Amino acid sequence: MATSIIISSSLMVLALLMALATVAPQAEARAFFVFGDSLVDNGNNNYLATSARADSPPYGIDFPTHRPTGRFSNGLNIPDFISREIGSEFLLPYLSSQLTGNKLLVGANFASAGIGILNDTGVQFANIIRMFQQFEFFKEYQRRVTALIGAQRTKQLVNGALVLITVGGNDFVNNYYLVPYSVRSRQYNLPDYVKFLISEYKKLLMKLYDLGARRVLVTGTGPLGCVPAELALRSRNGQCSDELQRAASLFNPQLTQMLGQLNSQYGSHIFIAANTGRMTADFVTNPGAFGFVTSKIACCGQGPYNGLGLCTPASNLCSNRNLYAFWDPFHPSEKANRYIVQQILKGTTEYMNPMNLSTILALDSRT
Ligand SMILES: *[C@@H]1O[C@H](CO)[C@@H](O)[C@H](O)[C@H]1NC(C)=O
Ligand SMILES: *[C@@H]1O[C@H](CO)[C@@H](O)[C@H](O)[C@H]1NC(C)=O
Repeated sequence: MATSIIISSSLMVLALLMALATVAPQAEARAFFVFGDSLVDNGNNNYLATSARADSPPYGIDFPTHRPTGRFSNGLNIPDFISREIGSEFLLPYLSSQLTGNKLLVGANFASAGIGILNDTGVQFANIIRMFQQFEFFKEYQRRVTALIGAQRTKQLVNGALVLITVGGNDFVNNYYLVPYSVRSRQYNLPDYVKFLISEYKKLLMKLYDLGARRVLVTGTGPLGCVPAELALRSRNGQCSDELQRAASLFNPQLTQMLGQLNSQYGSHIFIAANTGRMTADFVTNPGAFGFVTSKIACCGQGPYNGLGLCTPASNLCSNRNLYAFWDPFHPSEKANRYIVQQILKGTTEYMNPMNLSTILALDSRT
C-alpha cells in the first residue's frame, strides 16, 4: 500500500517533469523568424492560389517524411539546418493552421516563393506574400503571441530571436530579366537598378528593426547566371550568363556595405551579411570537391541541363540527390544547403560579415 503510494506519487512527479520538459524547451529555445523567397519558403505558398509552389512530388523525396512540404528542396532547406543548429524544431509556415498555442513561441516562417524586394517582382505568380505583407503577418504574429504570454515577454522573445532574410534574386530573374525590354530594364540601366534595389531593401530592413528584430542574417543572391535554368535559357556552351553574373556581382557587395551603414546607424551588429553568393560559387566552380558530379545539371527538370520549366512528377529525376548541387532549375539540393549553413555557422569573414553564426550564438548566450 505504502509502496504503491510512493510509486504513484513518483510517477506523478515524473509525469509533471515530462510535461514541463515538453513545454520548457519550446519556451526557452531562441525564437527564429524567416522572411523572403523560395530559397527559404517552407510551405506558405501551399495555401495560396499561385503557380510558385513545391507541394507535389518529387519535392520532399528526401525529407524525413519523404513527402512534399512546400520546401523547394529534395529534403531540408537553409532554415531547417539553422533550426537544427539552434536546437529548435523546424519552423511552421505562418499560414499553417498548426501554428497555434505554444508552437508560436518557436517562431514562424513568413517566406513566400516568387517574391522580391519590389512589389512588382513576381507579378506572374499572382497571389504571393510580398515583403510588406510578410511584415504585416509578423505584426499579427506578435499580437497573437502577446495574447498568449503578454507584451513584455513577447518583446523579449522578438528582440532575442534570430532572424533570416533571403530576397533579391527574383528582382533580377522574375523582374528585370524576365522578358526582354521589361518595364524595369527600360527604366534603369543595371547599375542604377541595383542602387534602387539596395535603397528599397534598406527601407525593408529598417522596418524589420522597427518591428523588433535585433539579430538578422541577410543573405546576398547566389551566382544567378550559373543556375541550370539560366544555362538552359541563355548559355550555348555551358558558361554562366555574364549579364546575370554581373547583376549578382554588383548587388552583393553593395548589400554588405548597406548593412554596415545600418549597423553603424543603430550602433550595434544587428545585420549580419551572409555571402551565400560566395558559398554557392564554391561548389558551382568546383563541384567535385564537394562530392557533386555536376553543378550544371539539375537533378529534377527537363530540357537542356534539366533547366526548363518546373520540377514535376513527369520530370527527369536523378537517382542520387547527393551527387547534384542543384535540385531543380533554381534551387540548391539538400546537400548544398547543408554546406551553405555550415559556412553561415563557421565561415571566415570572407563568408560572414562581421561574424559567423557560431560567434553570434556564443555572444548572445552570454547576455
Ligand atoms: C507595396 O505595396 C503595398 C500595398 O499596396 C504598399 O503599401 C507599399 O507601400 C508598396 N511598397 C513599395 C515600396 O512601393
Ligand atoms: C567562425 O566560427 C569558427 C568556429 O566557431 C571560429 O573559430 C572562427 O573564429 C569564426 N570566424 C569568424 C571570422 O568569426
